Amino acid sequence: MAARKIAPDTPELRARWGNFAFDADTKAKADTAIKRYPEGRQKSAVMPLLDLAQRQVGRETDTQGWLPLPVIEYVAEYLDVPVIRVLEVATFYTMYNLEPVGKFHVQVCGTTPCMLRGSDDIIAACKKRGMKPGHISDDGLWSFTEVECMGNCATAPMVQINDDNYEDLTPERLDKVLEALAAGETPKAGTQEPGRHTSEPANALSSLKDMVTENHDYRGEW
Ligand code: FES
Repeated sequence: MAARKIAPDTPELRARWGNFAFDADTKAKADTAIKRYPEGRQKSAVMPLLDLAQRQVGRETDTQGWLPLPVIEYVAEYLDVPVIRVLEVATFYTMYNLEPVGKFHVQVCGTTPCMLRGSDDIIAACKKRGMKPGHISDDGLWSFTEVECMGNCATAPMVQINDDNYEDLTPERLDKVLEALAAGETPKAGTQEPGRHTSEPANALSSLKDMVTENHDYRGEW
């Protein structure tokens, strides 16, 4: 499990983030999210609001974004809930960064299917670039977290970088992705296996062959 600790509440943190408020774009999106919930249930919007807040912090810092304590307090006030209710959500889900991160947050899956398909080599490739847990690279580009399964086991090993997943990785393929990001390009997300489109079988089809041409109903054959 990724190490989760919230950034210390310091005078510097308060000075930088104490006046945080949603900008017009974030506010419009936050209010739309709140309206999706029935009357009296508006506090259920805590997850989208935390995500929007993190993205705004990201825009303001040219990073993936994170959640300083004053920002968490702002979200609590916006939803009129106790800060602890927002804090417990923010600290539970690894999609929320509790400490500053780099422009690109490289989250490497190290769970069993990815591990069996070479995630140790992917982690080593990250370390070669100076990435290590809880650290932002000197150029401000990279931060690194090892995380649990992100649901791409069929195209393991994989990493998530900001909003995109990169799958079927080798150290060389990861290097290409990182080089492209560092150069300001947008590398193709998803599988990096030549000829593979998504998570279809990498080789010849071995099951569900009748589904190739039509939506075949197998239930009577079970
Ligand atoms: S084990 Fe890595 S995505 Fe599932």
